Amino acid sequence: MKAEPGLPFHVFSQSSITKHLTLKRYNDLKDIRTPSGYSLDQAIRSGIKNPDSSIGIYAGDMESYDCFAQVLLPIIEDYHHLEPGWSHKPDLQEAVLPDLDPKQTFIRSSRIRVARNLGRFPFSGNMNPDQRLALEETVKQAFKTLPETLSGTYTSFTNLNEKQFNALLEKGLAFRKGDRFMDAAGINRDYPLGRGIFISRDKVVRVWVNEEDHLRIIAQSPGGDIACVFNRLIQMIRALEDKLHFAFDRRKGFLTACPTNIGTAMRAGVHIHLEKLEKNPSFLETIARDHHLQIRGTGGEKTAVEQAVFDVSNARRLGISANTIVKDLHEGLQAIIHTERNL
Ligand code: ARG
Repeated sequence: MKAEPGLPFHVFSQSSITKHLTLKRYNDLKDIRTPSGYSLDQAIRSGIKNPDSSIGIYAGDMESYDCFAQVLLPIIEDYHHLEPGWSHKPDLQEAVLPDLDPKQTFIRSSRIRVARNLGRFPFSGNMNPDQRLALEETVKQAFKTLPETLSGTYTSFTNLNEKQFNALLEKGLAFRKGDRFMDAAGINRDYPLGRGIFISRDKVVRVWVNEEDHLRIIAQSPGGDIACVFNRLIQMIRALEDKLHFAFDRRKGFLTACPTNIGTAMRAGVHIHLEKLEKNPSFLETIARDHHLQIRGTGGEKTAVEQAVFDVSNARRLGISANTIVKDLHEGLQAIIHTERNL
């Protein structure tokens, strides 16, 4: 789709901003500033700089969702396939689901994460160094109060030398500077300042601090016991939400830097080895569509599939509950494994 003349971009692009940011909306919103001083031009920097963006816009604080609702709501409704009258579904209860692959023939690992932001800080692309450090300090204090079963260690990346950092990275326990999309959004600014990771003693629960969102609370473990991973994640979410005030809206759910993550802010997925389905991509695409799943490459977003290891996760995060997301993933994986076995 071609953007209308008068907009700050005239490129051929498939992004959500090209589709939903009409000239009228741009003109209505361009002089608005959120309480932390964030503008629409800042919000769409990433999409302008990267015409191959799929979305192209980031919130700079929780108020961005109200101030720029004229463009953000249509983007959210489109991305999450929302029906009129939609709203965030809050249930988050321990799940009981059988392990689909106890012998680990197909499923290599399961990982579920939620994004959370603290309402009183601007979001990642809109933070100065002092704010990043203050946020890190607030979160560090919360980690110190965790119950025994969740306790662990927080490591600030600024305290590590290159060798120590690389050792963590190799174990999948650190995160690098974000990609060019995040870079243009300001999210990588001052990296690694204020960034770090909390790891529980059994290493199943991790929390990334000051990445794309203030917090990414992650539970991850080898094999396909999704319910077990989900239940650990819930414990950590509950423990932290008692201490930290997460940015939340009754209708839109948890508010995140990127509108694709809003709502439950949850991505539940597995790494799964599918030799036969790799040669029959249309089967995999059909199952994914029917169960609202997203197929990504081995290294995650915008990467290629290596040695037939796919990253399969939920596509929708808003308008359905975390429990429904996990149930959909479970049913979808059952269908995928059944097809892979019978091809
Ligand atoms: N801003 C990028 C784009 O529009 C990524 C969108 C979704 N991914 C994310 N990590 N927020 O293509």
